[in-house]
Amino acid sequence: MTASSRKQTMRERCGTLKNYWYAAARAETLKDKPVSVVILETRIALWRKKDGTAQALRDRCSHRNVRLSEGKVQNNCLKCPYHGWTFDAEGQCVNVPSEGPDGKAFAGRKVEDFPVKEVYGLIWVWMGGEVAPDKEPFPMPHYDEKGWNRYYMETDFNNGVTALVENFMDVPHTVFVHEGWFRDRKRLKVDSTVERTEDSVLVTYHAQDAIGFTEKVLNPTGLPMTHTDKFYMPNNTRVDYIYGDNQRGFVITSTCTPVSEFETRVFTLICYKFGLANHLFKTFLPWYTRQVIQQDVDIMENQGKALKETEASFKSTPADTLHVFIESLREYAESNNEGEAPKPMVREVAFWI
Ligand code: FES
Ligand SMILES: [Fe+2]
Repeated sequence: MTASSRKQTMRERCGTLKNYWYAAARAETLKDKPVSVVILETRIALWRKKDGTAQALRDRCSHRNVRLSEGKVQNNCLKCPYHGWTFDAEGQCVNVPSEGPDGKAFAGRKVEDFPVKEVYGLIWVWMGGEVAPDKEPFPMPHYDEKGWNRYYMETDFNNGVTALVENFMDVPHTVFVHEGWFRDRKRLKVDSTVERTEDSVLVTYHAQDAIGFTEKVLNPTGLPMTHTDKFYMPNNTRVDYIYGDNQRGFVITSTCTPVSEFETRVFTLICYKFGLANHLFKTFLPWYTRQVIQQDVDIMENQGKALKETEASFKSTPADTLHVFIESLREYAESNNEGEAPKPMVREVAFWI
């Protein structure tokens, strides 16, 4: 197969979607051994130098293309397990054992180097080229804030990023997919405002909302709970359930890393602040959220299979406004920002759950 007959990788055909920081791993999972991850169909070796700083190189030796992640970290370099070619943190080849003990200029043998940041307990990789941008990774809310407890869930889904971010913001599915777990069907009308900006979709629900299991414990006095769902380009969602005076609540933030068209790794940060009741949730909440997310894993796998077989053709109702807005922003970026950009707009949307 020649290079030109090979299908382009997702990274090559995703337009401006590559120009972002993507979460590659939870920081605590990268220790002294390299770890191999795939982002936008591009395999990357993550490893740490002696001083602990995280590094990312293309996980493919420039010699015979073996995975470098299965080699060793030695003297702040990554050494290929096949013939021992050695690459420094910038991906420069600094030693080829078969050519003698001394360093030479090994021009042309470099492997690609990816900018890396470690923040909010995640290792982020910039997919837009070897020069680090002045942009920052998506700010994960309440990560280190006093009074807030937190934990991450890492979940592999068999569906693409667009379908997943829509699922994480989709209220009508909760009374079916999570029936009895999260929100019960009450045949209630919900009024909402859906806004599209140039790089986000923001939804505010005006109805009094409730999360099934928690109400009696968390909200015995029946404070009004406000619920907002937000999408930020290209792959982040943030769901806030805030009680009364804005001092207590849950915030669920997901950053979705595209592995391939129908494989996505999602890092979900769950933060909660309930004062003295925080300790009640420490073991219960991780278990509960794992059950709920598994229900989404299953329905997303179902949809992913259908979309893989035959291209998407969706019919939409007003309740699907956020879906349509998210698709418009992501498709525009995928087209390399060609033609007219989706216009900022606000819609009032009512639906029943
Ligand atoms: S394949 Fe890496 S050194 Fe030969
Ligand atoms: Fe769900």
